[in-house]
Amino acid sequence: MIFDIITLFPEMFESPMNTSILRRAQEKGLIKLNFYNIRDFSKNKHGQVDDYPYGGGSGMVLMPQPLFDCFNYIKELYEDNLPKVIYFTPQGTVLNQRIAEEMAHEENLILLCGHYEGIDQRVIDTFVDFELSIGDYILTGGELAAMVFIDCVSRQIKGVLGNPEATAEESFSNSLLEYPQYTRPAIYEGLKVPDILLSGNHKEIAKWRRKESLKNTLIKRPDLLVDVDLSSEDRQLLKEIENEL
Ligand code: ADE
Repeated sequence: MIFDIITLFPEMFESPMNTSILRRAQEKGLIKLNFYNIRDFSKNKHGQVDDYPYGGGSGMVLMPQPLFDCFNYIKELYEDNLPKVIYFTPQGTVLNQRIAEEMAHEENLILLCGHYEGIDQRVIDTFVDFELSIGDYILTGGELAAMVFIDCVSRQIKGVLGNPEATAEESFSNSLLEYPQYTRPAIYEGLKVPDILLSGNHKEIAKWRRKESLKNTLIKRPDLLVDVDLSSEDRQLLKEIENEL
């Protein structure tokens, strides 16, 4: 997957995108990041990219000229077929695992990072396909949101994570939170790993894990249970959990 990132601050991406799994994904050619610095497209001799909002008010607005020129430049690279454009803004649809999984099927995505008070609406009307938010709070710009998006989309791409079962079992992909995990030693500072995990009884371990997943979800994110397809065994486990609480 190729991410074309339009930003005023490409340097913000350097360390997070070049560490650990995302670095390896780039080395393996599974993802590629291209950066377009909005300032490089300014025709103003001072490299100006923003201006005061019409109608007054505080803050500055990214002006249309550098962004139109940047999009048209990228469009030419794609021989007039601009890939899907995502604009990161608190006004967007809130990102979740389902959206990340869907986006991972795209071959190319253009990510537009806003700053200041926003972007001239004509840019959004002309080029943007989706507005995405990463949560109901305001960031200083879209760069952190774009990095969150790149991270969670990339790990859905085949080959990026070593073990494909890892993504299938984890929190959210089945609408349940994960069960607790333990590793060696079996006793640490007097704290014991649950006996069942040392029993070698795979059927009972799977049942214990399912119950712990259900319990975690019920306690921490009961809203998620609304969307889960519960088996009759799950319902039985939930009854046991409710009685034990
Ligand atoms: N830009 C500023 N705040 C944001 C948010 N919460 N999500 C996405 N982009 C943003």
